[in-house]
Amino acid sequence: MTMHQDLLDESALALKQAYAPYSQLYVGAALRSANGKLYSGCNVESGAFSTGSCAERNAIAAAVRAEGASFQLAAIAISATDRSGNALPIPPCGSCRQMIREFGPDAAVLFLGAQGDIIQAQIGDLLPHSFSLAT
Ligand code: THU
Repeated sequence: MTMHQDLLDESALALKQAYAPYSQLYVGAALRSANGKLYSGCNVESGAFSTGSCAERNAIAAAVRAEGASFQLAAIAISATDRSGNALPIPPCGSCRQMIREFGPDAAVLFLGAQGDIIQAQIGDLLPHSFSLAT
C-alpha cells in the first residue's frame, strides 16, 4: 500500500467524469499540493481533436486556480479505463510530464504499469534532461 493510495482512489473517481466520446479512453488524475490539498481532473475532448485536454493538466489547472502561481505539486496519480470500465495502463503523455515538472520538479508520479502493477516514479526519471526556462 502506497502512501499515495488516496490519490489513486481519487483519480479513479475523477475518470468517471471524463468527456471522452472520441477516444473512449477515460482518464482521471489526482494530485497533492505541497501544502497537503488534493485536486483532481479528467480528460475533456472536442470534435476539433487538438483542442481537448488531458486529465493531468486539468488537475494542475484546478490547483493553480485554487492556490495561485505559488502552487507546488508534490505527487500525482493517474487512472484510466475503457468504456466498459476495464482498467488500462496510462503513463502520462510527454506534454503532461513537462507540465508536472513545471510545478513539481521532485514530484512523485503514480500510474498503472503494463504488468498490472502500480508504478511510482519521480518526474525527473520520467523526463530526464528536461527543458526549463528557470536558470
Ligand atoms: N489522455 C490523458 O488524459 N492523459 C494522458 O496522459 C494521456 C492521454 C487523454 C487525452 C485524450 O482525451 C485521450 O486520453 C486519448 O488520447
